[in-house]
Amino acid sequence: MKILKINPVHINYNFIKQAARVLGRGSLVVFPTETVYGVGADVFNEQAVAKIFSVKQRPTDNPLIIHIAHLSDLKKLARNISPQTRLLAKHFWPGPLTLILPKKLEVSQAVTGKNDTVAVRMPDHPVALALIKALKSPIAAPSANLSGKPSATDIVHALSDFGDKIDVYLDAGPAKIGLESTVLDLTVDPPEILRPGGITKEVLQNFLGHVIDHKHYPKNKARSPGMKYRHYAPNARLVLVTGNQQAMVKKSRALIRRFKKDGKKVGVIASKETAAHYHEADYVAVLSTRRNLKMAAHKLFRALRKFDDEHMDIIIAETFPERGIGKAIMNRLQKASIN
Ligand code: TXA
Ligand code: MG
Repeated sequence: MKILKINPVHINYNFIKQAARVLGRGSLVVFPTETVYGVGADVFNEQAVAKIFSVKQRPTDNPLIIHIAHLSDLKKLARNISPQTRLLAKHFWPGPLTLILPKKLEVSQAVTGKNDTVAVRMPDHPVALALIKALKSPIAAPSANLSGKPSATDIVHALSDFGDKIDVYLDAGPAKIGLESTVLDLTVDPPEILRPGGITKEVLQNFLGHVIDHKHYPKNKARSPGMKYRHYAPNARLVLVTGNQQAMVKKSRALIRRFKKDGKKVGVIASKETAAHYHEADYVAVLSTRRNLKMAAHKLFRALRKFDDEHMDIIIAETFPERGIGKAIMNRLQKASIN
């Protein structure tokens, strides 16, 4: 196992070549993207793709996102590329938008979880793009974490989940955004957001007209198979508190006392405005000011993992306004709070 530290501003192409060779021989590489770290395989090597599911302990019906470096790669993966798809790709790529499109026959069902559709995005990270170009093939990659755990926003998270099960880790520092891409299904009319992210419904509606949020299907009918599983979850039980700032502080403090009385180790996810009220907790993760949702998104997964490192039993999490990337933050917190 090798950890290669790579500066995204001055890329060491020897390291990229090494990593591409590892992918070329059917092994896995952990690499940075602007959203979170990914664990990648050559999309056209079925055995390599199977390894992803095995190291992540991921259910095989949960499909992978395919990462491309050139717009022209899209036609190797998807059929019937519509003007609408081109418009979005041109505007948002490279960037944190994943498009669900009708699948080309050449893409193995191992990648798409037996779906007739593919998920594709072009990551906005020079290291990811260089790696895909060096391999000369798109890279199938989910987030670089064990299935169900918070996504890896830093190389140490991937390392602690996978250790020497991965041959090469490309370390380019903390991921800029810290939450995964928006997943938009273009195979349905109106287009549907299967996973909220930094590119919001409001922004997408400027391009597409009507766009809808993912409907909550019964468990076995979930359209984005990933969404039916418990996700983003630390070991501790996570309890969400709602209401205005004052109400949340009051409820959180009552919960801290109650759980402490039961002998639990209690952590809190707080904002700069409220953190000082939680001195009775065992650990307080301060995400940002309540207005700075981008910073909160950037720090969320790191905080969730920190609670595990600190062996918390309970996490009490303040809720954030569901505007902009706040919707994605709340989506991840809600999934993490499912027992
Ligand atoms: O930002 C990201 O998207 C990161 C980086 C590494 O690119 N990747 C990521 O991958 O979050 P993953 O596997 O953790 O999440 C992919 C999501 C899952 O919810 C999966 O079910 C959904 O996309 N998905 C993939 N292919 C799909 C398809 N054909 N139809 C519907 N949903 C799909
Ligand atoms: Mg994931």
